[in-house]
Amino acid sequence: MRTLKIPDDVLCETLLDEYGTPEQVRRHCYAVAEKARCLAEGRAVNMELLLAAALLHDIARTKKDHASVGADFLKEHGFADVGDIIAVHHELPMQEEFRISEKSLLFLADKLVLEDRECTLEERFLNSMKKIRSPEGLRKLEKRFRQAGKILNLLERERGLQEV
Ligand SMILES: [Fe+2]
Repeated sequence: MRTLKIPDDVLCETLLDEYGTPEQVRRHCYAVAEKARCLAEGRAVNMELLLAAALLHDIARTKKDHASVGADFLKEHGFADVGDIIAVHHELPMQEEFRISEKSLLFLADKLVLEDRECTLEERFLNSMKKIRSPEGLRKLEKRFRQAGKILNLLERERGLQEV
């Protein structure tokens, strides 16, 4: 099996420094990583990979198309698997809605954190609505939160089954 290349916490910090990611964005990333850790507890996902992706997911937040710009930066540094997860943290491919994976968990964790604190999906949705300027933007936002809701339901259903 191929060994994954995953940056440790120190290297994640170095990469954020190198990119010049602002402090406020970094605090959001730490909070998302903490949320992702809670969501992933006891799940069949690679926690180390998920946490590195969470710490770095908004590395390029100040750029247009920040998800793909950030993913490319990580890939250039040899962290292709982390890059793949970051690439879809904003727009999740449909097939990921139906499974618990590093991609779907990061996507969800990001929507359960507002700035650097935990929030509900509804709160985050309403906050994002303020920035919407077009019907197309609203359609995309609604889709994103529908997807996040599905993943949350999936997690809750699985947890329910485990408790039986
Ligand atoms: Fe982002």
